[in-house]
Amino acid sequence: MNGPAKLQELFVEGLKDAFFAQKLVLRSLKKMATQAISAELRAALEAHLGETQRQVERLLRIFDEIGWPDEIDDPVRGETYDAIVDVVDDTRQAIDALLGPHAIDSVIAASAQAVQRYQIARYGLLRAWAQQLGLLNAARLINETLQEETRSERMFGQFADRNLERVQVCEPASFALAS
Ligand SMILES: [Fe+2]
Repeated sequence: MNGPAKLQELFVEGLKDAFFAQKLVLRSLKKMATQAISAELRAALEAHLGETQRQVERLLRIFDEIGWPDEIDDPVRGETYDAIVDVVDDTRQAIDALLGPHAIDSVIAASAQAVQRYQIARYGLLRAWAQQLGLLNAARLINETLQEETRSERMFGQFADRNLERVQVCEPASFALAS
């Protein structure tokens, strides 16, 4: 790795954060897939679950390349991932409160979209740092993940919007609750 020591340190810490966050996202996606009402949304969540597993493998390849930091086998640590934990908690509470299937699917899809946005921000930074450090293979791997996350963010956003439109037509009670 070339470049300033502080940037190298930030990059490794960022990769560790991304690794632990991905583990949390894997659990969250599994949970969301069991809660989804429509087979279409469930299939989309399960497909992204497979993609997320491959994203974890990419991170492992980067660690192979740059050397393994200590602590990587720790269980998921809380504080760094409050954003994801909050999204999942809010989703669960909303599902309990909502009345109809389209309202529930809309909330799940919007939550999945929010998680992708979080990861896009993280991976965007990591890609820039990898480029700065001359880690071109790492930058390429991170870029592949970033492209997947960007596609998923758009797809889950469309799911959320489509279901929200159906809520307004089919489930006015849920809509009144949500507004
Ligand atoms: Fe993702």
